[in-house]
Amino acid sequence: MNANKEELRNQILSVHKRRFATKAFDSEKKISAEDWAVILEAGRLSPSSFGYEPWKFLLIENEAVKDGLNEIAWGAQNSLKGASHFLIVLARKNLTGNSTHVKHMVEDVFGVPYSETAPQTVFFNQFQKNDFQLTDERSLFDWASKQTYITMANMMTTAAFLDIDSCPIEGFNKEAVEQYLSSQNIVNLDTFGVSYMAGFGYRAQDIPVKKRQALSDIYEVVE
Ligand SMILES: Cc1cc2nc3c(=O)[nH]c(=O)nc-3n(C[C@H](O)[C@H](O)[C@H](O)COP(=O)(O)O)c2cc1C
Repeated sequence: MNANKEELRNQILSVHKRRFATKAFDSEKKISAEDWAVILEAGRLSPSSFGYEPWKFLLIENEAVKDGLNEIAWGAQNSLKGASHFLIVLARKNLTGNSTHVKHMVEDVFGVPYSETAPQTVFFNQFQKNDFQLTDERSLFDWASKQTYITMANMMTTAAFLDIDSCPIEGFNKEAVEQYLSSQNIVNLDTFGVSYMAGFGYRAQDIPVKKRQALSDIYEVVE
């Protein structure tokens, strides 16, 4: 039992050391449908505030759209060129207790009645306004976007477990990418904004050694 646990600990750490922001992908190697389904499922199962899942995942397969993105997403060029799967993750705009998405989540996903005056709706609205000061469009978007980054981490770690490489991407002009995706009728900007992009595939480079601050520099026990 203990030996297995030790093995598991080592395996988890080796997966985290093995994951790295891949700069060169082998465009000939494709992720299998089975592996991709597991990576996506890790994103879908990610936690979110109040369970409202303020996200949407776009797998970009269209080459013309990739070409369009290439000009406005400098940090994505390596992934656009070689990654097997290129993802754009969207975050919901203006998500409050009164939005149709919350009503949908409560009724259709949680399976309980929804009302704007129900205690949980009122509590959620108060949390947003009083505890987190989520009172304007930008702060609400950033709050939703923060949550989408949990899916990023889970999907990349899951990929690494499957020996699949990945690259998280923030290297793009948000406004330009959003306008482009809207012009192609891919994203409705009333509902969603772009949170992050990510490439998944197989590396055409060695795995670099991790460079990180010492634990003692970033971890403190408050007794
Ligand atoms: C939010 C975020 C945005 C990033 N954006 C880019 C990007 O646009 N292009 C890129 O090549 N790498 C990007 N990276 C990768 C980081 O540079 C990389 O994770 C960091 O240097 C640590 O290296 P490692 O992930 O290989 O351990 C991003 C990482 C994060 C977490």
